[in-house]
Amino acid sequence: MKKFFIVFACLIGLFLTACQQEDNQQAEDHANKQQEADQPTKDELDDSKNNKEEETNKHIAKIEEETGLHVVDNPESELVYVNKQRKLPTGYVPPNLTVPDVPHFSKEGNPKRQLQKSAADALEELFAEAQNNGIGLVAVSGYRSYERQESIYSSIVDTKGQDHADKYSAKPGTSEHQTGLTMDVASATETVSTLLEESFSQTDAGGWLAEHAHEFGFIIRYPKGKEDITGYSYEPWHIRYVGHEVAQTIYQKDITLEEYFGYDYE
Ligand code: DAL
Ligand code: ZN
Repeated sequence: MKKFFIVFACLIGLFLTACQQEDNQQAEDHANKQQEADQPTKDELDDSKNNKEEETNKHIAKIEEETGLHVVDNPESELVYVNKQRKLPTGYVPPNLTVPDVPHFSKEGNPKRQLQKSAADALEELFAEAQNNGIGLVAVSGYRSYERQESIYSSIVDTKGQDHADKYSAKPGTSEHQTGLTMDVASATETVSTLLEESFSQTDAGGWLAEHAHEFGFIIRYPKGKEDITGYSYEPWHIRYVGHEVAQTIYQKDITLEEYFGYDYE
């Protein structure tokens, strides 16, 4: 009889353990199902993406209608292409802005020290190689917000007139400085006398920059003799990051970004 009770008790024990495991399994299945139910379905994700794209397209169409300018749809690309006909979406702020570890002309903390990370890394390499060759460079002005460009442009219009402003300064929304891929550079030894002046091209630093910027993915964006194409005066100090391959091509073919894109790249 005692044996019978022991066997009976074991059977009950096994039964209860099995029930417990089943309960656990059921609870886990339930939790999984709940989690699945909380996740958006693929269709829902597609819908939300389509809605966002539709919103962006509407936004772009509205600005194009208001300004007559094309609004670029790839502002974060290192090949983003802005000029007098092509602007950035309203309120655009580039991602990954960072301060390159190079000598700066502006005070610490000034937002104009910044560039997008890829351009900042390339600028550090360019400055280091310049230094290896006895050339001292200084970073003068990189990223500018829409508002900052607006204030620069309108102050040039006020002091020097619209025609002058349009040769040297981009209207807000159309400046490469807002992309975070551009830096104005000066000579460390002749900083003040040639700062953002055409005479920078006659300095050792200006000469070296013109010949070597492409090796680090930069182009001289507004070259001499191409003013009718770029719409801006010669700016030997304004370098724009486009990546190694494109910079190499543009340098070798001696062309502008406008010519590279055949003027009307979407
Ligand atoms: N100086 C160039 C054109 C700019 O304002 O972006
Ligand atoms: Zn510039």
